[in-house]
Amino acid sequence: MRLNFNIEGGDFTKAGSASSQVKKTLKQINVSPTIIKRVVVALYEAEVNIVAHAFRGNISVDIEPEQVHVQLTDEGPGIPDIDRAMQKGFSTASPKVREMGFGAGMGLSNIRDNVDTFKITSEVNKGTTLDMTVLISDNQ
Ligand SMILES: Nc1ncnc2c1ncn2[C@@H]1O[C@H](COP(=O)(O)OP(=O)(O)OP(=O)(O)O)[C@@H](O)[C@H]1O
Ligand SMILES: [Mg+2]
Repeated sequence: MRLNFNIEGGDFTKAGSASSQVKKTLKQINVSPTIIKRVVVALYEAEVNIVAHAFRGNISVDIEPEQVHVQLTDEGPGIPDIDRAMQKGFSTASPKVREMGFGAGMGLSNIRDNVDTFKITSEVNKGTTLDMTVLISDNQ
């Protein structure tokens, strides 16, 4: 099953809508709560990053029997130094974004901690792509 979402940069009213839709779908097909939580936490952080830092983006979620694969692509400023962006506490969030309660610089490391595979690529002045997979196994 594949779900697809378009994300508008700056629109915090809809931030979280993709992750709640995915949560609903995973519940319906009886994926375990532990796995659902990991997918939803990672997707929520990645979704908010597009809203907070990029102009617009697309999220594609592939739900397969053994794994959930998510790809997020955005058009935006890109990330000049990914290693630095991954560090806990690093943030370039604007004052407006901080007012909304974001900008702790924890999102990317939180994503990495919740997924089984994680790959981020970015081109400055073009955009960012994030690929991540959460494995669904019987013993979780
Ligand atoms: N999609 C993106 N486009 C451009 N820059 C990004 C994107 N995602 C992350 N970044 C950059 O990486 C930094 C770290 O991201 P991270 O999600 O860890 O923290 P944050 O979004 O600043 O704060 P938090 O997620 O804790 O609310 C961001 O401040 C921003 O500079
Ligand atoms: Mg973030």
